[in-house]
Amino acid sequence: IPYAGALTRSKVLQNARCYSVSHLSVQERIEQKRKAALTGGGQLRIAAQHKRGKLTARERLELLLDPDSFVEYDMFVEHRCSDFGMEADHNKYPGDSVVTGQGRINGRLVYVFSQDFTVFGGSLSGAHAQKICKIMDQAMMVGAPVIGLNDSGGARIQEGVESLAGYADIFLRNVMASGVVPQISLIMGPCAGGAVYSPALTDFTFMVKDTSYLFITGPDVVKSVTNEDVTQEELGGAKTHTTVSGVAHRAFENDIDALLNLRNFFNFLPLSNKDPAPVTECHDPRDRLVPGLDTIVPFESTKAYDMLDIVHGIVDEREFFEIMPNYAKNIVVGFARMNGRTVGIVGNQPKVASGTAQEYGGIIRHGAKLLYAFAEATVPKITVITRKAYGGAYDVMSSKHLRGDVNYAWPSAEVAVMGAKGAVQIIFRGKENQAEAEAEYVEKFANPFPAAVRGFVDDIIQPSTTRKRICRDLEVLASKKQTNPWKKHANIPL
Ligand code: HXC
Repeated sequence: IPYAGALTRSKVLQNARCYSVSHLSVQERIEQKRKAALTGGGQLRIAAQHKRGKLTARERLELLLDPDSFVEYDMFVEHRCSDFGMEADHNKYPGDSVVTGQGRINGRLVYVFSQDFTVFGGSLSGAHAQKICKIMDQAMMVGAPVIGLNDSGGARIQEGVESLAGYADIFLRNVMASGVVPQISLIMGPCAGGAVYSPALTDFTFMVKDTSYLFITGPDVVKSVTNEDVTQEELGGAKTHTTVSGVAHRAFENDIDALLNLRNFFNFLPLSNKDPAPVTECHDPRDRLVPGLDTIVPFESTKAYDMLDIVHGIVDEREFFEIMPNYAKNIVVGFARMNGRTVGIVGNQPKVASGTAQEYGGIIRHGAKLLYAFAEATVPKITVITRKAYGGAYDVMSSKHLRGDVNYAWPSAEVAVMGAKGAVQIIFRGKENQAEAEAEYVEKFANPFPAAVRGFVDDIIQPSTTRKRICRDLEVLASKKQTNPWKKHANIPL
């Protein structure tokens, strides 16, 4: 290399690289770039990622997608920043800090992005954002879900407004895609600052225990503003977000557990709002009786039972994917299948009691939200009153009046404005023979007949036949068509 002595070390290296590159054929250069893209930020950073118990962006995609199904886009894209020395060759990584493309999960199409923490901490450059937007746009065009594997230090600091613009471009697409294609975020590392809003806008946010966190500002800023000492884990770890804030829907043990669960979860979802949910082959007889259910509700009306036992008993193969299992434990929600068809399940959990905290926590607003969701839903709706349907619970939980298609009561059902004790205290206040009045109230209301004689429940069924009845109803209701009045957009209480 001529005049080498007059050049700095980095310039020598740069020149050497250009010199050698110019002698490579295009094919060789393509191969060289592909190889570089596959190693991301290099072996040292990959080792550091592994040491933390985390897989690399590409290893994660391998586990998530069917073998050999991944089709990568934009492997040659590089960031365009020329400040802070970023223009140097050694600061350019083919593909930049995110791996994007499409692939299959159990043969079904999905668009994916996987942030590469080994390249500038997975931070979001303009190019990184552009890659994500490209797959989101295509997913919308063809009608396929988008899964994001998040592991990023947030906005690429060196790029300033270009990376902020990139985030907003993604947010806009998250909003446009909402209700059109399923969007799922799996948080597998840091997700800080405004970066948290994209996962929050998606339909489901899952986390990995101990290695992932979501927060608007880190512990240092919290300390400087409010003088509170808090660790990253306490502030925005998986436990915090799945038990206290409700920001994340479920946490998994490690990367492998999370990705395998995500594959499983994906099978419940339709590809888009124009597709039906997948129907799988069912090996669990649809007419299977569940004798245990006949005795599951304790004779004593105040004794609790576990709603999960009922759910597991009636769904296919006892397989229930619970959403938010550790948050608001007084309601059980999740996905399962009945005779091979995806169903969403919402069940009151009598094992967990409520109290004043509910009122202070805005139960009115949240209850209204639940009621709104049931009323607005146009999918087949089947309701089973297992025991207490008192007051709001009767109305809100997909009652006939909210367009419930098939409403059942078990013989143990009790449908009334409120429980006997409270009711008697109000309507017979100060009167004698309270015990007698209570017995009369129980006799009148603590049974399914008042609702059944009015046709508010369609039938009183033997609990052991519940699965059989629901499977048959779902078959009949599969062709249900119902629409809501035209509106610019609905206004669900938030
Ligand atoms: C550029 C970044 C980066 C960033 C990390 N790196 N974050 N580069 N922009 N935002 C680089 C580091 O320089 C380092 O490069 C490599 O990634 C790994 O980072 P480390 O700090 O060594 O890793 P670790 O100790 O694990 O810490 C990870 C981290 C920390 C907690 C994420 O890096 C961090 O605090 N980063 C900044 C987080 C942040 O404040 N982001 C901006 C949020 S505001 P080398 O070359 O050494 O490997 C935001 C606004 C968005 O995102 C607004 C949207 C509305």
